[in-house]
Amino acid sequence: MDSIYLDNAATTPVLPEVVDKMKEVLSASFGNPSSIHSQGRTAKSLIENTRKSIAKELGALPSEIIFTSGGTEGDNMVLQGAVRGLGVETIITSKIEHHAVIHAVENLEQSDDINVHYVQVSSDGSPDLADLERLLQYDDSKKLVSLMHVNNELGTICDLEAIGNLCRQNDALFHSDTVQSIGHYRLNLQEIPIDFAVAAAHKFHGPKGTGFVFIRKATGLHSLFFGGGQERGLRAGTESVHNIVGLGEAFSHAYSNLDADKSQITDLKMYCIHQLKSTFSDISFNGCCDDLTKSTYTIVNARIPMSPEKANLLGFTLDLKGICCSKGSACQAGSETGSHVLNHILSKKQLQSPSVRISFSKYNTKEEVDQLVDVLNNYISA
Ligand SMILES: Cc1ncc(COP(=O)(O)O)c(C=O)c1O
Repeated sequence: MDSIYLDNAATTPVLPEVVDKMKEVLSASFGNPSSIHSQGRTAKSLIENTRKSIAKELGALPSEIIFTSGGTEGDNMVLQGAVRGLGVETIITSKIEHHAVIHAVENLEQSDDINVHYVQVSSDGSPDLADLERLLQYDDSKKLVSLMHVNNELGTICDLEAIGNLCRQNDALFHSDTVQSIGHYRLNLQEIPIDFAVAAAHKFHGPKGTGFVFIRKATGLHSLFFGGGQERGLRAGTESVHNIVGLGEAFSHAYSNLDADKSQITDLKMYCIHQLKSTFSDISFNGCCDDLTKSTYTIVNARIPMSPEKANLLGFTLDLKGICCSKGSACQAGSETGSHVLNHILSKKQLQSPSVRISFSKYNTKEEVDQLVDVLNNYISA
């Protein structure tokens, strides 16, 4: 049975062109980029060319792009580096961030005795900017704000520009987990008042275990790792050349086809919402799915009332029928406590209905959406 993959916010299929490039590098360009001989220089130039093209697209300097092992490392590098190297005493974040941020902040609260404040979020998952301003002006401590651009469960987009301006006006640093938006939206980091942004290649058809962090030059962030001087001393360890090249290839495909892919996927998302609404009269959407100015085009998070017995077996049934999507988010699969994001924004009553996150890529079709809706309908009405 062919499966229908609707879990692209968890990870995306790797583009064949990316696989080809990575194979080529693995077999032909195996040199250590720190070696000064020709093999080393070839590997080094592959990395630097990738860095330059990423920086150009994002309006950054090449020296502001540091390759990492992905989103979790990028978030930790910024949060730990800001506290331990830049003297940040207070972190302002939200309860609906990815665990890569929430757990890193909790750990810093315990081990480094920093203050942590959680900004209020509305029921659609948007941070309350008046509350953020109040927290920024609460005391004179050195602050960093960490708020994600696109929420990986709800799809809600926050206003980076407005948050960045508030941070600038109040002398605070601004970090955004942009893992769900880099590769999906054009961002000009020259213009957006942001200090740190994070990307993971596997969210835009690249390989897992690789990504990058944007570190604005003036911030002077320090390294997490101690070792060699790779990545301008910010990320010791021999670079994963094939992964970096794969990341660069996926990034360049993502941006050269962005407008066409975005319009195709937006169409699919709106079709999915329409089909779900017309099949299930009592369906609700978490976040603000059908407002495309406030919700990403790749994610739908739907809540469908059903009996507790059916709710319990929903994930299992979808899987049995070959449909891959998430209850809440991938990290919550099998968890007894459910999604921390939905727990935070939904009422007790709303939480009684199961939520399904459906997330698209350019490889999905309307026929797949029809099959998903059919499976759900047969299951609920049986
Ligand atoms: C918003 C967000 N941040 C961080 C991460 C972690 O990224 P990685 O899996 O590359 O460590 C993810 C991945 O699920 C994510 O969706």
